[in-house]
Amino acid sequence: MNDVEMTELLLDIADAGEHGIADRLRRENPCHVARTALEELTFRLNPAMVTEPAVDVQFLLSAGDRSVEFALRVGAAGIQVTEGKAPQQSVTIRWELRDLVLALYGRPGAACDATRVVSVDGEPGPRTNAPDDPWLLRYKAAGRVAGEVLNALSPVAPSVRHEALKAGADKWGENWFAAHYDRHFAKYRDRRVNVLEIGIGGFEAPGEGGESLRMWKSYFRRGIIHGLDIFDKSPLAQPRVRIHRADQSDPLSLREVADQIDGIDLIIDDGSHISSHTITAFHTLFPLLKDGGLYVVEDVQTSYWPGWNGGHTSFTHTATWIGFLKKLIDGLHHQDQLDEESRLGSYLDRSVTAIHVYHNLVFIEKGVNGESTAPSWVRRHTNDMELTPRGSMVKPVLDR
Ligand SMILES: C[S@@+](CC[C@H](N)C(=O)[O-])C[C@H]1O[C@@H](n2cnc3c(N)ncnc32)[C@H](O)[C@@H]1O
Repeated sequence: MNDVEMTELLLDIADAGEHGIADRLRRENPCHVARTALEELTFRLNPAMVTEPAVDVQFLLSAGDRSVEFALRVGAAGIQVTEGKAPQQSVTIRWELRDLVLALYGRPGAACDATRVVSVDGEPGPRTNAPDDPWLLRYKAAGRVAGEVLNALSPVAPSVRHEALKAGADKWGENWFAAHYDRHFAKYRDRRVNVLEIGIGGFEAPGEGGESLRMWKSYFRRGIIHGLDIFDKSPLAQPRVRIHRADQSDPLSLREVADQIDGIDLIIDDGSHISSHTITAFHTLFPLLKDGGLYVVEDVQTSYWPGWNGGHTSFTHTATWIGFLKKLIDGLHHQDQLDEESRLGSYLDRSVTAIHVYHNLVFIEKGVNGESTAPSWVRRHTNDMELTPRGSMVKPVLDR
């Protein structure tokens, strides 16, 4: 089993909760479990947390009658995890392995802190009273790292805005999308979601881009993040991040990707931004989105730009994404149309339950759009409604 598979197994195991987890973990190799979990912890640590001098965190993890030792080094060269004793034990964390797994992969609020003991080595003490005494600097760095490790183990309400800045994604700063994502994605944050983003970034360069995939990985701490791009971006795969290659203007290749995902909760289109591609991807993938899911389209302003196959002469042409979107609004109200055929509604009319439009960004909710229209006797055709001086309706007139 590789680390990617182990990560997904640990998500399943953690779902067994505080009572079932020990049984499930007993069947796994504790070293492999610990290494995978500590790699996840490494990913969650703030990459800007470079310390000089380096700090070693010694993990002593017990699993039944076995115990495993791992060292996590935070220094100028980044953060590394190795099996065994740390060269210098600045911080020691003793913990039940099952509780480490629960802290990283379990549902929010899982009881997992009680078996954890953290100590920062306070001996032998500084040799001088100088504020730059080397021992004192090492001690302070160790305390900071211990605090960062504990924060990463129980994140305080992560926000898309913070994760965007941390990952270098352009969704906050260059664009102001992250605040809207915070509003709409919060309820999915702790669920085991499958997120699919069209457009990985970095274009032809296989190892470049992926900022938003890493951002979603941080934000959805129990989610699997799927990136899709027309170019080969396979080097960007990592635990909880899967890379797919497809052309968003080709329904067949999109369906092949969706077939590999066990139910998609959230789709984000940040791909070509060509209206015809955006519409094709929507027609293909929206039906494959779970009920209760969200479909997001970024950079919709390209709809108005001929350079992106958009149009600036007609704002309602359904060949542009914005024109198509306006038609979706009519569909959202299909029950209220006057002609019988429109009232039946298309598949999309019956499956789009809400549309939230922001500057350059759209969120579309999926579900059963089954609300009924007003009763038949409410006036539709005649226009003899009596209005008050302020314009409010005081007397509904029967439409018979
Ligand atoms: C704006 S970048 C994505 C940035 C990324 N979502 C982020 O926020 O970090 C657009 C990506 O879409 C990809 N792309 C362009 N046309 C595409 C198509 N027809 N199908 C799939 N991906 C496409 C490009 O290769 C590029 O990597």
